[in-house]
Amino acid sequence: MLRTHTCGDLNISHLGQIVTLCGWVQKSRDLGGATFIDVRDRYGLTQLVFNTDTDATLREISRELGREFVIKVTGKVIERSNKNLKMASGEIEIAVSDIEILNAAKIPPFLIEDDTDGGEELRAKYRYLDLRRAPIRNNLVMRHKLGQEVRKYLDELNFIEVETPVLIKSTPEGARDFVVPSRMNPGEFYALPQSPQTFKQLLMVSGFDRYFQIVKCFRDEDLRADRQPEFTQIDCEMSFITQEDILNTFEGLARHLFKTVKGIELNDFPRMQYADAMRLYGSDKPDVRFGMEFVELNDIAKGKGFGVFDNAELVVGINAKGSAEYTRKQLDELTEWLKRPQIGATGLIYLRHNADGSLKSSVDKFYNEEELKKWSAAFSTQPGDLVLVLAGQTDKVRKQMNELRLEMGGRLGLRDKNTFAPLWVLDFPLLEWDEDTERYHAMHHPFTSPKPEDIKLLETNPGAVRANAYDMVINGIEVGGGSIRIHNRDLQSLMFKHLGFSPEEAQKQFGFLMDAFEFGAPPHGGLALGFDRLCSIFAGLDSIRDVIAFPKNNSGRDVMIDSPSTIADTQLNELKIKTTV
Ligand code: AMO
Repeated sequence: MLRTHTCGDLNISHLGQIVTLCGWVQKSRDLGGATFIDVRDRYGLTQLVFNTDTDATLREISRELGREFVIKVTGKVIERSNKNLKMASGEIEIAVSDIEILNAAKIPPFLIEDDTDGGEELRAKYRYLDLRRAPIRNNLVMRHKLGQEVRKYLDELNFIEVETPVLIKSTPEGARDFVVPSRMNPGEFYALPQSPQTFKQLLMVSGFDRYFQIVKCFRDEDLRADRQPEFTQIDCEMSFITQEDILNTFEGLARHLFKTVKGIELNDFPRMQYADAMRLYGSDKPDVRFGMEFVELNDIAKGKGFGVFDNAELVVGINAKGSAEYTRKQLDELTEWLKRPQIGATGLIYLRHNADGSLKSSVDKFYNEEELKKWSAAFSTQPGDLVLVLAGQTDKVRKQMNELRLEMGGRLGLRDKNTFAPLWVLDFPLLEWDEDTERYHAMHHPFTSPKPEDIKLLETNPGAVRANAYDMVINGIEVGGGSIRIHNRDLQSLMFKHLGFSPEEAQKQFGFLMDAFEFGAPPHGGLALGFDRLCSIFAGLDSIRDVIAFPKNNSGRDVMIDSPSTIADTQLNELKIKTTV
């Protein structure tokens, strides 16, 4: 080893020792007779002191040192006169007797400190420098710990980690595939897996019984803060289990991770029906760190001559507790915010429960005090509360109200990053209607089992069929999802039929799986957790980007390696994609 210690090792107990450290120059201060330099590595920072008065060579070298030079220093651990108790090594410094410059460095394009002056684009271009900064590095260290604990927990329960192929055929998880041309099979393409779904089911047919994989998945979809085109799943599958077993096993995993990595003991995860989540929160991933549940007002608000309510399918509101002080201006701003195309509300109605107990609404013309008292009772308002009401078509208004609830929760400080509120959302619909293609799509994926008691509805009312499908949600983020699978050829064929596949198409695309079901497929089910999302929740981040070493930007580009990029004509020719020259 070039070094005896790391830059995070040394403290007052090492006084008097001669040590050698290697690392990067963080900053340097020349105070005349002495130069102080902070040297940094992955483990921390240590202060070096160069007595430049007495040693001409040291003086010369120390003056050459710029930010981010890579150095090796030897010296004695001495006590600092000016201690910094915020740093682990803050009580000592190294009186340098020997220094070697291992490599010079250009001036970095941004400050490599916890608070940097670098903009997002610049930091992405020089991601390897950004990764030197402690906040980002710590995220990756935590990600590593989470990965280790996942393996420990699942190994303990007899899960076997199996690698599945990356060059495959399309798996329908609802997004577009990334495809890879095959040189040896001109005109044909592999698809990168959106998930290893079909493979893990085949592993169950093979008798592996408990499988997991921490695995890269690829989806060509529009990107958001919690979506990357390539991301990682903790993908799991089990045989001979009920839904209850799966929920318990993976709730156990989440609790193990919170305990071992964050030192937090979580209570049992509450469970909520999908239909209740939509009715009470307007979302299949409710943030239950706070209440502010929806209250439906159809019964008391309709039929009083107010057209907006009378013509609406749903009138629904929330009680933003303690917000009665909102001024007219603030309410107008909130209304404008709701009217933006991203949300698309047509207007906002409010009811103030004033501090003096009086009730004041924006629709007093239609509702007298008696009526408003009914509203107040429906929301259990107290003096100081503000009720916000939207009306419209049920699905749309629920979505809008969900946005408003999250916004008000944020404004009221109810979405603390250090509070963790997990839950299971259960019994998702099997199918969802797609307006564009005018047909049903599998809400989770086509291998999800309908609830046996709902199978009869497939012919008559497909939209009402519920699935044995579940999501794990933490703080309003869908952390994972899964289902009990179909393991019977006839039922799988029926599902494909309802999804609009002809028997030939179904056989062509998924014959391998349906054939496998005829060779002794055990009942099975599983789930996949979004590893990046889990890491970002643990790190208290809004985006998954900074828990990924080399993420893509919002346009799906890696600006560091400048990808995607064009490829040479010779490559294209070889792949028979374009023949020029
Ligand atoms: P699903 O499509 O719900 O299920 O994905 C599982 C979890 O993966 C995460 N996730 C993503 N994370 C980052 N970027 C993305 N683009 C992205 N897309 C999904 C989410 C999600 O909950 N095969 C099934 C699982 C199963 O049925 O067992 C599947 O992939 O956290």
